[in-house]
Amino acid sequence: MTFGYVQLPDLEELEELLSLATASRVCALQRVLAHALTGGKRFRAALVATAAGFASPDPRAVARAAAAMELIHLASLIHDDIIDEAAFRRARPSLYRLFGRVPAVLTGDYLFASAFNLIIDLPKSILKIVTRAIRFMCEGEIAELGEKNFDVEAYFDRVRKKTASLIVASCQCGGILGNLRGAELQQLEKYALNLGIVFQIIDDILDLTGSPELIGKPSLQDLNRGIVTLPVIHFLNTSEEGSAWREKLARGGLSPEEARELAGRLASGGSLHYACKVVFLKIKLALGALEFLPAGRARENLREIAWGLLTPLRNLNYPDPAEELAKKIEPFSRGAGNLEKVIGGGQEILGAFLRV
Ligand code: FPP
Ligand code: MG
Repeated sequence: MTFGYVQLPDLEELEELLSLATASRVCALQRVLAHALTGGKRFRAALVATAAGFASPDPRAVARAAAAMELIHLASLIHDDIIDEAAFRRARPSLYRLFGRVPAVLTGDYLFASAFNLIIDLPKSILKIVTRAIRFMCEGEIAELGEKNFDVEAYFDRVRKKTASLIVASCQCGGILGNLRGAELQQLEKYALNLGIVFQIIDDILDLTGSPELIGKPSLQDLNRGIVTLPVIHFLNTSEEGSAWREKLARGGLSPEEARELAGRLASGGSLHYACKVVFLKIKLALGALEFLPAGRARENLREIAWGLLTPLRNLNYPDPAEELAKKIEPFSRGAGNLEKVIGGGQEILGAFLRV
C-alpha cells in the first residue's frame, strides 16, 4: 500500500475486506456502497497497519482493525457532508447529493455497524478505544455547530475531538496489536495527536488557499459557512481589522466576496504563515515522540507518514512565506534532518498567542 510517496506495510486485503465487511443483498444499498467505498487515501488504515509493525501480529487482526477504522472514517464523512451541506468530496458529488439525505444517513449508519462487526473479536481494549474516539468525534462536530467562539483553545479542543481522535485511535489500535504498552504507547498517542492536528490545520489552510482541482471541492467553504479555522482565529485576534470581521462572522457565514476578501487578508497579513508555523511545530512534536519508540521499519514509516502529510503545502499558490517554508522542508522530507533549522524560532513566534 502506498501513501503519497511512502511505501507502507502490505495490506492488499484491505479493499477486499472493506467490500466483504459491507456486503449486502439489497441492490439499492449496493449502488450507494460502491460510491462510498471508492477513493480516499486509506490514511487511518495505513496508521493501524504501520503502528502494528512494531511486532508481527496476526495479519487478519490488523486488517480487521484497519478496515474498521476506515469504515468509521467513511461513515463520519458521509454524515459530515450532510451537516456541512457540502456538494463535493474528492472531486465527486457528495454521497447525499447523489443518492439523497436519507439513503446517505442510513449508509453511514450501515458502514458504522459494519465497522463494529469487524472488531468484536479483537481485544476489548480496542473496542474501548474506538467507542471513545467516536464519542469525541460527535462532541467535536457538535461543538462546531454554530461555533461563535474565536478563541484558539476552543479551536484546538474541537480539532482534537473532531479529527485527531480517530487518528489517535488508529495508532492506538495498531500499537496495541504491535505489542506497544505503557510509556511507548503514550508516545505513539502523542505522535498521533499532533499528526491529527496537523491533518486538520492543513485541511483548513487548503480550504483558504487550494484550487478546487487540488482539493476536489470548492474553496472557502469554511468561511461561507462561518466556520472559523486557525488562520482566521489568528487574524481575528491579532489584526486591527479583527473586530470588524468578528462582527461579520458573528452574524453567520460570509458572502463569497467577503470570504475572498478575508482570505486575501489572511495571506498578506501573515495568518496563513502562522498556521504553517503551527503545522511545523506540531510535526516537530510528532517526530520527537517517535524518538521514544523502538527503532526500525515501523518507526521509519511513521516518520515518513508525518512528512508525507506536508506534501500539499508544497503546492500552495499563495505568495512568499509558505513557499519559502515549503522549500525549507524539502531537503528534510526524506529523513531526520535538523528540525530546529526547519522550524526556526517556532516557539517564540507562536509564543504569546498560542500555548502549545
Ligand atoms: C470533517 O471535518 C469531519 C470530521 C473530521 C468528523 C465528522 C464526525 C461526525 C459526523 C460524527 C461521527 C459520526 C460517525 C458516523 C462516526 P471538516 O468538515 O472540517 O472536513 P472536510 O473539509 O473534509 O469536510
Ligand atoms: Mg466537512
